[in-house]
Amino acid sequence: MRLDKAVSLAGLSRSEAKDAIKKGRVCINGIIARDAAMRVEATDAVTVDSKPVDLSLHRHIMLNKPSGVITATEDTHGERTVIDLLPREMRFKDLGPVGRLDKDVTGLVILTTDGVLAHRLISPKHDAMKQYIAKVEGRLTQNDIDAFAAGLDLGDFIAKPAKLEIDDAGEVFSLARVFISEGKFHQVKRMFSKVGHEVLKLKRISIAGLTLDETLAEGESRALTPDEIRLLYEAAGMEAE
Ligand code: URA
Repeated sequence: MRLDKAVSLAGLSRSEAKDAIKKGRVCINGIIARDAAMRVEATDAVTVDSKPVDLSLHRHIMLNKPSGVITATEDTHGERTVIDLLPREMRFKDLGPVGRLDKDVTGLVILTTDGVLAHRLISPKHDAMKQYIAKVEGRLTQNDIDAFAAGLDLGDFIAKPAKLEIDDAGEVFSLARVFISEGKFHQVKRMFSKVGHEVLKLKRISIAGLTLDETLAEGESRALTPDEIRLLYEAAGMEAE
């Protein structure tokens, strides 16, 4: 790829990248490079201000989404989006979420610049398993476990059999884990509602075996590790870069 494209992978716009090159802030394999059009290979070590640039074409991020933020890439009616939460240098072009969480739902959102990966992970064919923690009204029982396992008729569709694990069943509210492979609109809330338990709080903690890093406070994000990236590509039946 061209050097200015490579430098932009550090989170700079193309014109900022050109400027950094002109000012001698960019090195290839330890040597200052001043030609924005020169070619670099994935094996070259490119630095900006002595900081290495990751030359992989795609970027993958995990975010611990707080409540009150929408899973969209553009500002809609002044609402805060998951992209607004990212540090500026992580707001890569073409970054999009792998599926959506409702505004009031918290937890794991994966963002990737690889649209094919995102598409595959949410396609029914790949059935990526999602795990949620739910706080619901009332006492959950074995009947609810059985109803989830049988596949709930939600009117416009029948939810696939899902696993419900009850962590704590109280008179006023219960805590449980839900495992679903689909991702229909309000699906978990609708499943609980169907068995008579309104959801009070919902948090997603894993997608396709990738678990939310609990050291991330709500609103915080980080790049996925190479192992996490491999896991996602494997789940999507794709080769990682
Ligand atoms: N199920 C829901 O009801 N809401 C979400 O955001 C995700 C799953």
